Amino acid sequence: MTPTLYKSAMEKLLSSWSSAAIYLPENYVFPVQSRPGDATVPFCNTLPMIDLNTAFAGGRQDAVQQVLEACQDFGVFQVINHGVDEDLVIDTMRVVKEFFDMPNEDKANVYSEDPNKKCRLYTSTYDYENEKVHLWRDNLRHHCHPIDEFLHLWPQKPARYGDVVKKYSLQVGDLSSRILELICEGLGLGPTYFGDGLTGVQLFSANHYPPCPNPNLALGLPKHCDANLITFLLQDDISGLQLYRNGEWLGIEPIPNAFVVILGHQAQVISNGKLTSPEHRAVTNSTDHRTSIVYSINPKPDSIIEPAKALINDSNPPLYRAFQFKEFLKTYEVKKDYNEGALEDFKIKA
Ligand code: OGA
Ligand code: NI
Repeated sequence: MTPTLYKSAMEKLLSSWSSAAIYLPENYVFPVQSRPGDATVPFCNTLPMIDLNTAFAGGRQDAVQQVLEACQDFGVFQVINHGVDEDLVIDTMRVVKEFFDMPNEDKANVYSEDPNKKCRLYTSTYDYENEKVHLWRDNLRHHCHPIDEFLHLWPQKPARYGDVVKKYSLQVGDLSSRILELICEGLGLGPTYFGDGLTGVQLFSANHYPPCPNPNLALGLPKHCDANLITFLLQDDISGLQLYRNGEWLGIEPIPNAFVVILGHQAQVISNGKLTSPEHRAVTNSTDHRTSIVYSINPKPDSIIEPAKALINDSNPPLYRAFQFKEFLKTYEVKKDYNEGALEDFKIKA
């Protein structure tokens, strides 16, 4: 690639031009029905907050019950005293912010428009060229499991990125196993139900949302459910994550050193609809940079996803047919329906 082409590709990144933008460009304006409008919504003050220390103090069964109820009612909860080292959480957020703050020439090695790359920096979605409206976010995304297979692909700068993010990925990966075990117990599935086939693809995905000239018309991420099994999301201190619940948008309050745990579509299918995958989005604001770090647990592409047999009986017939995870992803991407409709093709019609 010639140097000029390279430069012009990277210039799509919001971090290349957004600080000089006075108006929101036309191709970032969402259709009226999905615009956030005045996005200053109240926080969801009923969102479950699970303190794993106190939950376990009442016995393991208490912790199982709290997690199960949160997953059934909301499909999303915050977790504190989660066992991931607090300094590491702070340091990971710091090093990710340092990454996005670097000049373009330092980010050029990881910038790519090829969605098949196992580590890449890009802007908006995997389909920038064809999408009708661009998202107000830059994203750095890479695989991290098994970690040593992918470490060499990660950003070389900041120099400590690899060390810090490796530790973080391992610890959040452990947390995900512990939470999934509690979910299994709650559902009455064997403790190892979520084995490597259902959790073997783990992604580290950092979203960077720069200040936006018109937050009422743009979105960082439109309303969606996560395509995966489960997400562990770390927010910085700037709000922007919103939950769609009972027909209204509510903010998810940034709490220091807390993870927002979000169930994905696959958790809804495997639990045969007992657990819900919540609709959520990310809004922008006109003054502050916002960064979120998503640790995403996904099935392997060939794995079969289906309602767990232990949950099926005469009075609980399966709501979904079995499918390969890659089949779901294809539908998700082709239909571009990121909400409940994404599961439509896999539902068993009564
Ligand atoms: C996501 C997501 C929200 C946020 O990456 O799937 O929902 O606050 N992110 O960045
Ligand atoms: Ni999401």
